[in-house]
Amino acid sequence: MHPALNIAIKAARRAGQVINRASNELDLLKVATKQPNDFVTEVDKAAEAAIIETLQDAYPGYGILAEESGQTDGKGGADAEYQWIIDPLDGTTNFIHGLPQYAVSIALAKAGQVEQAVVYDPNRNELFTASKGAGAFLNERRIRVSRRTKLQDALIGTGFPYRMFDQIDTYLAIFKELAQKTAGQRRPGAAALDLCYVACGRYDGFWELGLSPWDMAAGSLLISEAGGLVSDLRGDANYLDTGNIVAGTPKVFAPLLKIVGDHLPENHRG
Ligand code: IPD
Ligand code: CA
Ligand code: CA
Repeated sequence: MHPALNIAIKAARRAGQVINRASNELDLLKVATKQPNDFVTEVDKAAEAAIIETLQDAYPGYGILAEESGQTDGKGGADAEYQWIIDPLDGTTNFIHGLPQYAVSIALAKAGQVEQAVVYDPNRNELFTASKGAGAFLNERRIRVSRRTKLQDALIGTGFPYRMFDQIDTYLAIFKELAQKTAGQRRPGAAALDLCYVACGRYDGFWELGLSPWDMAAGSLLISEAGGLVSDLRGDANYLDTGNIVAGTPKVFAPLLKIVGDHLPENHRG
């Protein structure tokens, strides 16, 4: 196993312990509102601190992009082109409500390309890992995307808007079309896990608009290493920048991308 992946796993498990401990005392949880319907708890922050401490101990020169503490550049030298991309608790709204669908997501990018990925679900003790060129794994067993070939048979994951509503009508139009052309749609509420579910074949496709890099960085490598396809709305690889992502099995991906893309005006199709 790549040493950086090993460290990322250690960091994710430490964060998982912080989260699990707090999940037994949800009534004590202090919740702050970043903006309407965008919450952060002291658990997000404590989990992030545990992750950063673990990663920086091992790789002091690497940069960091983390949801709660923002960006810290690498300290120069050859290591500065590396960046950890961290979501300490993906699915905070679920966590606050005691709904057991959330995860820790950690990726390592070199010059903007994700090379190592860990997503850890502390409820199910499911550890999703991938290294570029070396495949994707769930609890050390190799995973692959599903064999489904038809959109009509596909189960599609998504996330719909809950704090920014400028695209709500587009979402609903896509949702309506996919309701008639797929086997079903799901919105569990943790994008990093949603992407892993494509990687291990639980879903056959996924799409969402307006995500952040830390929601997608690890999960997207899981999908490509599991034999799936991932892109932005143009079919290009800029989803970490545009925030818009479509993913799927090799055959489900193209019809899904077409439906999602066709609902957006050309200049919004990044
Ligand atoms: C959120 C979850 C959710 C997605 C949101 C994300 P957070 O992350 O991934 O599924 O729909 O866009 O912001 O805020 O819980 O880390
Ligand atoms: Ca997130
Ligand atoms: Ca988060």
